[in-house]
Amino acid sequence: MKSATAWRLGMKGMQLLPGPRQRTQLKKPTWIIVLISFVSFFLVCAYVYPPRSAAACYIFSSRGCKALEKWLPPAPARELTDDEVASRVVIRDILNVPLTISLNPKIAFMFLTPGALPFEKLWDKFFQGHEGRFSVYVHASKDKPLHFSRYFINREIRSGEVEWGKISMVDAERRLIANALKDQDNQHFVLLSDSCIPLHDFDYVYNYLMYANISFIDSFEDPGPHGSGRYIEHMLPEVEKKDFRKGAQWFTMKRQHAIIVMADSLYYTKFRDYCRPGMEGSRNCYSDEHYLPTFFSMLDPAGISNWSVTHVDWSEGKWHPKSYEAQDITLELMRNITSIVDSVHVTSDEKKEVQIRPCVLHGDQQPCYLFARKFLPETQNNLIQLFRNYTFT
Ligand SMILES: *[C@@H]1O[C@H](CO)[C@@H](O)[C@H](O)[C@H]1NC(C)=O
Ligand SMILES: *[C@@H]1O[C@H](CO)[C@@H](O)[C@H](O)[C@H]1NC(C)=O
Ligand SMILES: *[C@@H]1O[C@H](CO)[C@@H](O)[C@H](O)[C@H]1NC(C)=O
Ligand SMILES: *[C@@H]1O[C@H](CO)[C@@H](O)[C@H](O)[C@H]1NC(C)=O
Repeated sequence: MKSATAWRLGMKGMQLLPGPRQRTQLKKPTWIIVLISFVSFFLVCAYVYPPRSAAACYIFSSRGCKALEKWLPPAPARELTDDEVASRVVIRDILNVPLTISLNPKIAFMFLTPGALPFEKLWDKFFQGHEGRFSVYVHASKDKPLHFSRYFINREIRSGEVEWGKISMVDAERRLIANALKDQDNQHFVLLSDSCIPLHDFDYVYNYLMYANISFIDSFEDPGPHGSGRYIEHMLPEVEKKDFRKGAQWFTMKRQHAIIVMADSLYYTKFRDYCRPGMEGSRNCYSDEHYLPTFFSMLDPAGISNWSVTHVDWSEGKWHPKSYEAQDITLELMRNITSIVDSVHVTSDEKKEVQIRPCVLHGDQQPCYLFARKFLPETQNNLIQLFRNYTFT
């Protein structure tokens, strides 16, 4: 068949010409009809058994499967469960109802520590002169810390035991948020560890957070063993593997998001039960790295930054990030960290794909980091000496 015209002529000829000629002409359209039927049948099958399911992908390589996915109309949406519908309306309403504007908006600094807070003196320098624009909360899970700063005295909340990587870590975060929410003036909530330090002066941090209409929650898709490899199908139907995200624990959150975290029990329960160390298939899942990154990327993706404002150096490629010692603390190091304007994520599969994204706020690229960890207690004096220099903008 050379062209459409030739084909149409052939059709005409079919009606006119008798005998064996007619039969040869018939063959082409029949063949096309069979082909179309076959393709339609296949498309219907693929639609009914979406390509993610083993049935359709069995026939194809996973690459062919991905290509096919793009061509198909979206699979019929799963019908949400009662709990999911309830959860979504609550979240939507919290996000849509404007907050009562506080006349005295404050930032809640929430410290999660086993005991001592080695950088109290540095934080004291940071807070000094800004009374009334912040509040401090301390969750000390093991030992009651000895305080050196007036801003920390009597700021401990009732705490519970915290086991590394377990849901008790998330419970401690929720306990801090709940206590901080009691103060109506708290508009933004910052989670910090005992090894965190401030990278900028108070005004800079305050303006950065207060005027951002998003929460700084780290979230990215890691297909590797330390990302989606930790996912388990027991999380269905609410959490699908494609929705599973990873991110650093250290977040900052606007008030609406803090309330949403308090309101959630559906997704919290899923992570409590199925994202913990020592799951089936020797999966070690850590809820503090997955619950909030997954939850917010599913329910308010445009409302989070996808990077954490707390810097940490993983470049050594070890199980733990770099810990800065006293001798590391120079103005050059601090300037280097405060001038970073791109966030970097590396996947944990063998590809080790590096994802670099600009840190964009109010439409412009901005320094990504307000805080940093991990600093050994011995660095404090050097940091205090240099504080005015490195926070000077
Ligand atoms: C964060 O990533 C999600 C995709 O997971 C995207 O929809 C959202 O726009 C991103 N947030 C920002 C502020 O760019
Ligand atoms: C935040 O503000 C920007 C404009 O500055 C706007 O484009 C964006 O939609 C807002 N995001 C949210 C989650 O309100
Ligand atoms: C600071 O950054 C520069 C340029 O990337 C690098 O050469 C230098 O080693 C860094 N210094 C420190 C102390 O990290
Ligand atoms: C820090 O600033 C002070 C006063 O501005 C100055 O005297 C000192 O030399 C600076 N230190 C460094 C390491 O630049």
